[in-house]
Amino acid sequence: MMRYDFGVGEKRDWLVGEDRFDDAHQGKGEAIFCQGNGYLGQRAALEESYAGQTRDLLVTGTFDRFDAGEVTELPNLPDLTNLQLHINGQRFAMADGNTENYRRVMDLQTGGLCRELIWTGRDGLRYQLRFERFVSMTREHVLGLRASITPLDGDAAVRAESGIDGRVTNTGAAHFHEGEKRIFDMRILRMISKTVQSEVTCCLSAAHRYTLNGADVSGRMLPIIDRRYMAMRGDFSVKQGQTLTIEKLCSVTTSRDQGYIGLADAAELAAQDGPEQLKAALALGYDALFEESAAAWRRIWDQADVRVASDHPFDQLLLRFALYHLNIMVKKDDSRVGIGAKGLTGEGYKGHSFWDTEIFILPYFVLTQPDTARTLLEYRYQGLPGARRKAWENGFEGAMYPWEAAWVDDGEVTPLWGAADVVTGKQIPILTGMIEQHITADVAFAVRLYQAVTGDMDFMRRCGYEIILDTARFWASRVTWDEGKNAYVICDVIGPDEYKEHVDNNAYTNYMADHNLRLALEAMDDLRKANDEACRRLDAQFDFSALRKKILNVRSKLYLPRPDENGIVAQFDGYMDLQHIDLTPYKQASVVGTIYNDYNNEQISSFQVHKQADTLVLMLLLEDLFDGDTKRKNYEFYESRTLHDSSLSKSTHCVLAADLNLTDTAYRFFEGCGGIDLGPNMGTSDMGVHTASMGGIWQCAVYGFGGVRVVGDQLHIAPRLPDAWQTLEFQLIWQGRKLRVTAARDKTRILNLGSKEVQIIVSGAHVVLPAGGVYDR
Ligand code: BGC
Repeated sequence: MMRYDFGVGEKRDWLVGEDRFDDAHQGKGEAIFCQGNGYLGQRAALEESYAGQTRDLLVTGTFDRFDAGEVTELPNLPDLTNLQLHINGQRFAMADGNTENYRRVMDLQTGGLCRELIWTGRDGLRYQLRFERFVSMTREHVLGLRASITPLDGDAAVRAESGIDGRVTNTGAAHFHEGEKRIFDMRILRMISKTVQSEVTCCLSAAHRYTLNGADVSGRMLPIIDRRYMAMRGDFSVKQGQTLTIEKLCSVTTSRDQGYIGLADAAELAAQDGPEQLKAALALGYDALFEESAAAWRRIWDQADVRVASDHPFDQLLLRFALYHLNIMVKKDDSRVGIGAKGLTGEGYKGHSFWDTEIFILPYFVLTQPDTARTLLEYRYQGLPGARRKAWENGFEGAMYPWEAAWVDDGEVTPLWGAADVVTGKQIPILTGMIEQHITADVAFAVRLYQAVTGDMDFMRRCGYEIILDTARFWASRVTWDEGKNAYVICDVIGPDEYKEHVDNNAYTNYMADHNLRLALEAMDDLRKANDEACRRLDAQFDFSALRKKILNVRSKLYLPRPDENGIVAQFDGYMDLQHIDLTPYKQASVVGTIYNDYNNEQISSFQVHKQADTLVLMLLLEDLFDGDTKRKNYEFYESRTLHDSSLSKSTHCVLAADLNLTDTAYRFFEGCGGIDLGPNMGTSDMGVHTASMGGIWQCAVYGFGGVRVVGDQLHIAPRLPDAWQTLEFQLIWQGRKLRVTAARDKTRILNLGSKEVQIIVSGAHVVLPAGGVYDR
């Protein structure tokens, strides 16, 4: 069971942990305690092996396709965290013997993970063990582990075997060739292996240091090299009460590393640099490396922290947990890589990026780390050739973004087959890669959000306008004419709610496409006004007058479903004719997706039931198109039919409920977001944490209770705290100026920490804040 109350005093809201080892539920801890720095993610599988473990080491951008019938995925690199201990001839494993005083705690403030326990072996003697690890926030290639053993009841002969284990797969798919293994100076182990299809060379290095009561000790050492495996085995005599400590420092480099872009000898460089990175780390030692990394984490917290004074201390911890994961899920300076739906915390969704990034995660980065947001959008810019290819292959013009994206030039990588159909027994075809098309408009929406928040015209000229124009070109070619409706329509899509397939005129898709088309018109106006090199280049590429004509024509007749007599915007054509079923059992289920135990896709498509927010996301993103009454009616209508079976659902409902002044309901959805990865259900995070939910948790606090929103080119701040909260404090970067917002129930304070004036809208009133100025009301 997870526990959230390990911290006392200053540490109260920083520690998340577990107080029991349960081999049936290892996935939860492995994912939520995952450590990383955006370059690599080290899942928190325990050092000693157990059945049911998933020992993942994932490095951003190293995608490989194992087999022609499969899609590309982030390969699981050889494992560096293995450490097998034999104590007085008994293999240490908590499943054997007796374990007491167990606790494993992640310190979100420093990024350090620590496990402590007392183990009684079959010999009836007690041994105290402590394991620590970190992934460096300053040296992206470096990670470290430390294990200490103290025999409490007698002397112990300890055998420690630790090394690099290439006998790893992604659920059976072995992505690496056997490779080359070498031990330098009887100390540095190096394994070089190459992925089978993408030919990415990965170099893993590891070295150990052994101490007894703090003094270096050299045991009887044996080097081991075997098939896909290498290790050092050491034998040590440890007297009762003495502590043997094993430190393991490791480095990871790959030929895809940013430093080698365009170099023909990237593989050789990766192989050489790995041990060099490690040597530099060894010169510093474990403690100094950890401190250096912890200091980097403290700097992140200075910028990133969201503070809340709540009746429920868990709220603060939850926010920090989300911020921790937001800061390890992406390599912040590499525009060749996106954010996986599970980040680098597990093999789920194969490391692929979805609309999760643009709609759920990007707002956090845009408003707090605009440089990171820019690299994420540059990643989409680099994905344009793949998006154009997808459009062309489907008979459309412009750029049609892949529903799932991997390496920049891969294009569409959504798998074609999914789980079992409960009715036919066949595998369910996955249609999202073909017909879940709103992602294209979502990317354009995100570009515009970035432009409004940052005013970064350099990005717009280099990349942003081109994305907006080419995606608009796609929509202009995607619509078809409907005689009956006397309008352009968008048929045969999947909207955000994936429980409905092959629908026509999904409101979200149509409105977002229209928004995309509008952005293109505005972009051409802006470019014409600037009349610069970017204007000339893009005009030559798109032919502004022809494109403008086409877009104006489509927009003037694009079918945008309006609220019906009850104020409801139908999710798609024919929605109101769908059947009602009793959703109570599915709404009350403790796990998601239980409706699939009773019905198949076809049947679910015929019910008024939703996996996740759909029309409501529209009402949040394009909020000025709908009045408060319409939003409230649609909120009530759709929420009652939504199972929240996707981790993307609750945060939308939270923010919308807060907008509608339903703060208690909003707070319950915020708590619900917490339950997705930190709730009592131990199976939810096995494949990795839900990165969109991490962005969603930030949105609940800042968009929901902080009332922050970017509408057009304006920043709105209108706090409304739930009853449980006394204060909420966060920072934003608006137009390059840092703002610190402190909201109490009856008071809002906004400090402009920037060196220039800002204009914002606070609770509906226009406010001009000079540099250093304070709004306090
Ligand atoms: C959701 C999608 C989401 C994907 C990745 C699916 O279950 O329905 O909206 O993009 O997961 O998180």
